[in-house]
Amino acid sequence: MATRASTTVLPYRVLERKRAGLPLTAEEIVAVVRGAVGSWSDGQVGAFLMAAAIRGLDAAETRALTEAMAASGDLWDLHAAAPRAVDKHSTGGVGDKVSMLFAPLVAACGLPVAKLTARGLGHTGGTADKLESIPGLVLDMDRERCLQLLAQTGIAIGVPSARIAPADQRLYAMRNLTATVDSLPLVASSILAKKLALGAGALVFDVKTGDGAFFPRLEDSLALASLLVETARDLGRSAVAVVTDMSQPLGRWAGHACEVREVIDCLREGDGDPRLVDLVCALAAEAAALAGVELDAAAARGKLRSGEPLERFNRWAAAQGADRRWLDAPRFELAPIEIVAEAPVSGRLAAVATRELGMLLLEGGGGRKSAGAAIDHGVSLDYRARIGDEVAAGQELARLYVRRGDERLREVFTRCFEIAEVGADALPPPLVHRVVRAGAAAASPSVPRAGD
Ligand code: URA
Repeated sequence: MATRASTTVLPYRVLERKRAGLPLTAEEIVAVVRGAVGSWSDGQVGAFLMAAAIRGLDAAETRALTEAMAASGDLWDLHAAAPRAVDKHSTGGVGDKVSMLFAPLVAACGLPVAKLTARGLGHTGGTADKLESIPGLVLDMDRERCLQLLAQTGIAIGVPSARIAPADQRLYAMRNLTATVDSLPLVASSILAKKLALGAGALVFDVKTGDGAFFPRLEDSLALASLLVETARDLGRSAVAVVTDMSQPLGRWAGHACEVREVIDCLREGDGDPRLVDLVCALAAEAAALAGVELDAAAARGKLRSGEPLERFNRWAAAQGADRRWLDAPRFELAPIEIVAEAPVSGRLAAVATRELGMLLLEGGGGRKSAGAAIDHGVSLDYRARIGDEVAAGQELARLYVRRGDERLREVFTRCFEIAEVGADALPPPLVHRVVRAGAAAASPSVPRAGD
């Protein structure tokens, strides 16, 4: 791993070269990363980020940045102690509760799942915040605890401590200040640095695309998917990226406690929203393929119905501190003010302003407006119609549960749903756009469109 930096690398020279669009050497990238956790000023870090965002980073620079950011903190090297462990990552969206189902399902299929999960960011919810609506559940963990949980339950889910990729933490905060958040190589290296620090041998990426995604345009999502799997491969990890729909909320509910409830209901019933279940099973099949285990999406669906994933979930949640009495009889609260969006005319649901819905949840109290702010776990969205559905005038499309509502919120909420005339084309979007594997041309979807 490239951790050695020559003291002769001058920040000024590095910045000058990147500004001119020249590729940086691994040694220069290491100097940037060391500077980010050391003596580089905000001005110097910001200048590097802006130059990198405008000029780009090539594959070698992206790899070097990823490696150096991972090496800036603790390396758990899980692969050495748990060679079959899988780490799953989503680029985030609205109603994305996949990780909470994926982990118990894949663990029940015999593959341990370890992940350090993020808090909410902008309009997207975070798995860590959602899980914290389970009374008692603790997400702090170190390597030893992670391995202990994997051995006991096959699942370990935590939040990254300050010692995991600290260089990424400074660079990420600076990206937020310098309008350089959405640079592809900076995003890919930031995501991968934390994966590398954890050190699972197999990585499954769910790269969202569509209005509610971090990168809404399909071409950007595909580019990120390729960059993630190619860089991971170059760093010795098996990886697959599945580019999936986020043009509408995923599943029936979006928020915090309500998503945990949807997950527990799905585990109890062995079934749930078709798009959610199809996606979880497709990702489980991809994880199994990476690990060389025979399990297709149909077999994953059968496993979901078996009740074993529910048993895993409960065992895991209890091991991470969840109140056992609550797990036996989970209770969830919805915020008290209800706002209903109805179809103004008959027709088909043609489009959903998914990002805006995420922002409304945030505004209604269900997200963090500043770092460390408290989250209202009861603020929720019940998403009832789906893109492509025929709807009648006055039919309920969705319902928002908020703590504070006003006329403006009601108006914006109603405008989030676009109805096309009866007879107009309004096809459901594909659930899986592409499966991207390292070194291969993007493969076709492995699951059918929902409704096919
Ligand atoms: N998630 C990350 O960890 N980093 C990014 O840059 C974007 C999303």
